[in-house]
Amino acid sequence: MSANILDGKALAAEIRTQVARAVKQRVDKALSVPGLAVLIVGGDAASQVYVRNKRRACAEVGFNSFAHNLDGNISQIELLSLIGALNSNPDVHGILVQLPLPAHIDEEAVIERIDPAKDVDGFHPYNVGRLVLRLPRLRSCTPRGIMTLLARTGVNLEGMDAVIVGQSNIVGRPVAMELLAARCTITICHTRTRDLPAKVRAADLVIASAGRPELVRGDWIKEGAIVIDVGINRRDDGSLVGDVEFDAARERASWITPVPGGVGPMTVATLLQNTLQAAEMADALIS
Ligand code: GUN
Repeated sequence: MSANILDGKALAAEIRTQVARAVKQRVDKALSVPGLAVLIVGGDAASQVYVRNKRRACAEVGFNSFAHNLDGNISQIELLSLIGALNSNPDVHGILVQLPLPAHIDEEAVIERIDPAKDVDGFHPYNVGRLVLRLPRLRSCTPRGIMTLLARTGVNLEGMDAVIVGQSNIVGRPVAMELLAARCTITICHTRTRDLPAKVRAADLVIASAGRPELVRGDWIKEGAIVIDVGINRRDDGSLVGDVEFDAARERASWITPVPGGVGPMTVATLLQNTLQAAEMADALIS
């Protein structure tokens, strides 16, 4: 078997078109233009690229984009007070603080300062808790993007054995809650997991989000499994490789995401959907 490719780039483009159409409809109805504030503190080269992509995507769909490029030495108090001001600004519907933050800043305190109704990353404990309780409000972008990709396969996920490799707050844990809500049986693997190959071999659905190049070997993949590769690792020659050994895995899987062009574009497209959702939630509060 050679797997079908789950084309995140194409699906993300469809989503951007849908969001742009929704923005036009809002303007026609004299509703507010969705606004997203993207904050970056110092930031390594990779973070700068991610932030540039997010701001560009906002502009493309007609959102207002509020850019805050903050000095790496900004104090925690200054950062928290800026977030407070954005919380009170009715033109700002979404607030995103690019992670990681410099070591002198308490990441949790920053996330918790964001108004949960503007937390378009879905990182605030309120939004995480709502997902755990099967009452999702704003959902984390990469996990929600993965669920959108999975819906595109048309495959019924109910009852599937899903194995998640990686237990991060940004991907592993929330995607596990998404899949549990979709009625999968979930197994979350991490660095202390015994016999990772055996866990993956038993999986109908594999989410690889460990951040380790080609950690998941192709011959571990069960015949017909769905494989979602969240990894973006740079090789010495500059090329990108995922957390899955793609060519070998493709011979066994039914569906597989490429790297690049799989999950990555979906994260940014989902951020746009979340910002539109936050603007719609704000309308509901006003009307
Ligand atoms: N750093 C890596 N991924 C993300 C993300 O999805 N959101 C934010 N804010 N920072 C990140």
